Amino acid sequence: MVWPAGEVAFVTGAASGIGLGIARALVAAGASVALADIDGKRLAEIARELTEAGGSVAAIELDVSDAAQWEAAADRAEAALGPVSLLFGNAGVSGGGRIEDTTLDVWRWVQKINIEAQFIGVATFLPRFKARGGRAHILNTASMAGLVPMVTQGAYVASKFASVGFSMVLRDELEGTGIGVSVLCPGTVATRLGVTAPEAEAKLLGADLDVSIVERNSALLATGADPDQVGKQVLDAVRDGQFLIITHREWAPLVERVHAEQSRAFTEFEGRHGVDATAQMLASGIHIDQA
Ligand code: NAI
Repeated sequence: MVWPAGEVAFVTGAASGIGLGIARALVAAGASVALADIDGKRLAEIARELTEAGGSVAAIELDVSDAAQWEAAADRAEAALGPVSLLFGNAGVSGGGRIEDTTLDVWRWVQKINIEAQFIGVATFLPRFKARGGRAHILNTASMAGLVPMVTQGAYVASKFASVGFSMVLRDELEGTGIGVSVLCPGTVATRLGVTAPEAEAKLLGADLDVSIVERNSALLATGADPDQVGKQVLDAVRDGQFLIITHREWAPLVERVHAEQSRAFTEFEGRHGVDATAQMLASGIHIDQA
């Protein structure tokens, strides 16, 4: 059997888009999948579809932003399918618009779902992985917005940069444990994000849904990659132990512009503070792939 056949995965945001693509790829590879999502109705439909396709799945209704729900959700998943050894912290939302138009409630809502929930997921499952031993893997879905700033997406960009940093530290801290870490930074993928996020934001604010935003975002996303193909790519990358997973090469020049600005900033100033021993100390403990 080729890993992860016979393993159990826990996928958040599994009722739609990239999470569903990952779940489908896992089922095709012979893994059991706990499908976790806030949308109970779609979750039931997806669970039925995957079961009919011969998959072993469990529908786990979970609001990832509610820390109090996680342990029970993990227990339900493990009671139904067995010990989990793969965690995909994938659920996410965008919202808020320009920073000056973003309310604190919306800012916090985006951070709670996109990054705090990834931490809670790790806090829930990492002790279980360690207690059980053996190979395990944690993947966090960030975004190109975790590597490149995007105007009108301030709350989202902040949460996704945080997800990339969180994943980098987690990778270093789990080096040599048999627990791999990946961070997925997709470009545009044809999912329902343009609908699910504005709907949830309108509900949060008690406001009417802005149909023009839904139409604009959905039209843009519709041009993106097939989420099922992304799911297959993700599974191959996880199998290979790849850390940073990129879906679209077209973003490279933008990422390079960010890096070039950072590199320039190190040469265009007078060094006036002497040697920083912290940097020298950290240099030996950071496992950025140099190849
Ligand atoms: P989607 O909207 O199709 O799927 C997201 C799923 O997450 C939905 O089923 C939704 O019900 C669920 N969800 C939302 N809030 C939740 C909560 N509080 N608790 C549990 N589940 C919740 O969107 P998509 O695109 O598949 O998004 C998945 C991830 O991919 C997100 O983290 C998103 O930021 C990221 N991403 C998406 C890109 C795209 O172009 N679609 C590009 C880069 C990153």
